[in-house]
Amino acid sequence: MIVVGNLKAYMTYKDIIEYKDNVPDNVIICPTSLYIPYFLNHKYQVGMQDISYYDLGSHTGDICAKQARDIGIKYALIGHSERRNKESLEEINKKVLKTLENNINVILCVGEEKGDNLEEKLTDQILSSLKGVNNLENVIIAYEPVWCIGTGVTPTNTQIENTISFIQSIIQDNFKQDVKILYGGSVDKNSINTLKQIDNIAGFLIGKASTDYKHLKEIVDSLS
Ligand code: 13P
Repeated sequence: MIVVGNLKAYMTYKDIIEYKDNVPDNVIICPTSLYIPYFLNHKYQVGMQDISYYDLGSHTGDICAKQARDIGIKYALIGHSERRNKESLEEINKKVLKTLENNINVILCVGEEKGDNLEEKLTDQILSSLKGVNNLENVIIAYEPVWCIGTGVTPTNTQIENTISFIQSIIQDNFKQDVKILYGGSVDKNSINTLKQIDNIAGFLIGKASTDYKHLKEIVDSLS
């Protein structure tokens, strides 16, 4: 099972001192970019929470895929719902292409808000984000319903299973390939016991609960 911790902007330098040395092996941690160097050279992988679609150049405040690759980054979250309202679908697509071009794996986040037409929304997000991508070998899709992020609410296993099948069918129809699909949104040491029973799931993208290494370890242990 793939386990990704998205630390968002929860932690200060003081918080990460002990945390970074105690993260379980075999997970992917996406820290605040500023702290990434402290997270490298452990047994876990490190990912970006976002990435620029620019090449190296005069782009104040951006972190380019080439720079990330250079320092050892293997993954990048793209299109997280907490960023999507600041980004167009075209920009997300450009980020996906630039990230893959630099040999960094893309974790493409998709998900509906309450009241959205689920199938329309996901189809639009997935097809527009993956425009121009031919090989999905280095792409993971994270299904994160916006109404489940940080709310303590999760869909039922059947709802998640059906949505994952739906995403897999869009991918099959358009790319004739399979893709790994994660679930994210209020995954913690309690909800994981139910969520881990979902058949077609490749893993989990965890926010708040991943910022406590003991909590994260409990989740990882319960999956093994
Ligand atoms: P929570 O696990 O805090 O609900 O966040 C989910 C998320 O947004 C991970 O990217």
